[in-house]
Amino acid sequence: MTKSAPVVDSRKSLIGQPIDRIDGELKVTGAATYAYEHPSDTPVAFGYILGAGIARGRITAMDTRRAESAPGVVHVMTYRNAPAQPAFGPSVTREVREVFTRARPAFSTNRIRYYDEPVALVVAETFEAARGAAGLITVEYENERGAYDLDSQLADAYAPQRTNAGFQTDSLVGDFEAAFAGSDVKVDAIYTTPYEHHNPMEPHATLAVWFGDEVTIYTSAQTLANFRAGIANTLQIPGEKVRIVSPFVGGGFGSKLIVHQDTILAALAARQLRRPVKVALTRQQMFANAGHRAKMIQSVRLGADREGRLTSIAHEVCSATARFEEFCEQTAVFGRSLYAAANRMTRHRLVGLDTNRGEWMRSPGEAPGMLAFECAMDELANQIGMDPIELRIRNEPTIDPERNVPFSTRNLVSCMQEGARRFGWDQRRAKPGSALEGRKLVGFGMAAAIRPNYIGASAARIRIDGKGQVKVELDMTDIGTGTYTILAQITASSLGLPLSAIDVRLGDSGFPRTAGSGGSWGAASAGSAVHNACETLKQKILMSAREAAESPFHGLNNGQTDFVNGQIRAGNRSVGLAELINRIAPQGLDAHGAVEAASDNYRNFSQHSYGAHFAEVAVDVDTAEIRLRRMLSVIGAGRILNPKTARSQILGGMIWGIGAALMEESVLDPRYGHFVNHDLAEYHVPVSADVPELDVVFLEEADSNANVFGSKGIGELGVCGAGAAIANAIFNATGTRVREFPITLDKVL
Ligand code: MOS
Repeated sequence: MTKSAPVVDSRKSLIGQPIDRIDGELKVTGAATYAYEHPSDTPVAFGYILGAGIARGRITAMDTRRAESAPGVVHVMTYRNAPAQPAFGPSVTREVREVFTRARPAFSTNRIRYYDEPVALVVAETFEAARGAAGLITVEYENERGAYDLDSQLADAYAPQRTNAGFQTDSLVGDFEAAFAGSDVKVDAIYTTPYEHHNPMEPHATLAVWFGDEVTIYTSAQTLANFRAGIANTLQIPGEKVRIVSPFVGGGFGSKLIVHQDTILAALAARQLRRPVKVALTRQQMFANAGHRAKMIQSVRLGADREGRLTSIAHEVCSATARFEEFCEQTAVFGRSLYAAANRMTRHRLVGLDTNRGEWMRSPGEAPGMLAFECAMDELANQIGMDPIELRIRNEPTIDPERNVPFSTRNLVSCMQEGARRFGWDQRRAKPGSALEGRKLVGFGMAAAIRPNYIGASAARIRIDGKGQVKVELDMTDIGTGTYTILAQITASSLGLPLSAIDVRLGDSGFPRTAGSGGSWGAASAGSAVHNACETLKQKILMSAREAAESPFHGLNNGQTDFVNGQIRAGNRSVGLAELINRIAPQGLDAHGAVEAASDNYRNFSQHSYGAHFAEVAVDVDTAEIRLRRMLSVIGAGRILNPKTARSQILGGMIWGIGAALMEESVLDPRYGHFVNHDLAEYHVPVSADVPELDVVFLEEADSNANVFGSKGIGELGVCGAGAAIANAIFNATGTRVREFPITLDKVL
């Protein structure tokens, strides 16, 4: 536990308190039910996916007979007998939303589009029987020459129609080339970031159960509406016939925003067999079949005068993508709002390869983009001989530099200054490689963080029973972020009831639809819907209190009754909510609340969360072993709904930054197109020994343009720039600038 750990103050409003997770006990005792664990009344069959042994080509022959006659096997599904489904559509979707909802058919042809693409599903009485039988299937392929290597295919780069989330691929302000050519000081650097995989603790898994023509899908999903649409469109059934249940999610990080083949195959097999079917991806299969962050090559050019004022900024990104389904991460988009400069350019290009598609991965855009860009800022500061914080302050814009709208709240400078003070930034040696402690070179680094704030259309319903117990229902998910807790805090605070009176139900598509968990919008969107439902419920209660004959407030006018701290008041008289409800509405009362997607008011501002990351590293002078010693992040993200869960989000993001800077890399074999290090033994993520003292500080802030709470998104902010702070610390320690991530010791030596 570090110095800024928050404590509960019981005298204050529940919103803003570091309340422990209300679902924590269920999780740590194993009582929380995850996708693969849901029980079924009828015996379940287990599916096991067999993946393709090539990355591009077609199946020419397949022998499934030995598998079909193996003990316990009940079905083998391949492209030859798979139920009819719509064809997979064009590689570029027409509407931004369509990527979330399009049909994702299984086994629709004998074509292979990427390595380990599913070619057969074996269904058996046990998982082991299914897996064993899958090994008895023989497949012959016609292998075609594929393209798997971004670096050697750069001549094929093309401009997509738009980036993920619908941004323009290019932006141009002023005359970048002329201004850059005429600049006193220049940085012109190429950075590379590797493929990365999400690796949530809970792999993708589904139990599908049919009741007549309706299917219930127990799965691990971030956004139920996307899953429902994806399944309905693939199975060609109405959305109302699909129910998604996902009460607990063991991490998603963007890999569970859309349906994957485990879900489609479980649904198809269960319908065909008329019995429940479970399908899970193994950890190894997830490297091929659950999305990834694509490899990128980024060029950053910065031109400045000798006082460190930027004259020109260019950030150009070339990213790998799947040939069969385009995904363009919005890697340079954040820079359109970050620093002032009269001449600027951003550009996104793609190279189509014979791999699976890239997908959203925590902080899509900023994670790889800021890793490169915030290092380039450090390179510029070093060239000028200026403190990197001072450089950023000199280029602080007064309005959004490309949209030309005002910032809503922007406390980036305060984050940097407060961080510098707390971290002891004045102890940093400006000259790289000059701080030797024994056999360790010590360095300090920092970087800025920025991440856009969103609201997605969401609804909720609330019901208070005759005893004053409240149930809140919405199809929101809790992917480990603390949603259950925050929504209970919002409800309890609004109604003036204790947390123990609130029962939050999430993760069922039968509940009102929300924007789900993604894009850091979850708490604000679902929270606003719940808040509005509470407000409507309070109005209904007051109305009943005035109208019901049994009420002590009977006959009073609107305006004479009020809701104060869980009491209904009129003049000097006040009655507790539970007692009043019991008298006036023993059958209970319910209400509905909703919030729209970003309003015009919201569009009129440049609205982001901000932060500043600080890192100290020690690098062994002989071996170049890199050890992170400590890290601090100071965050300006509006009002913090729960400092404990918020802090955990930022800590988790910082740890992702450690992984991106120092170890995470999925290595694609350029000959065969498969990820060679496809498990957690060889795909390295930070472990406890890699994570030293981390600290998080939230600035006092409230953004009244954001939502009723004044909060802004934080789920992804912690990643943004965190890795760059570490990279910059390594440069400060050693004087060696590594531009090829991750920074492993061989690159520093
Ligand atoms: Mo996030 S990558 O939108 O789950």
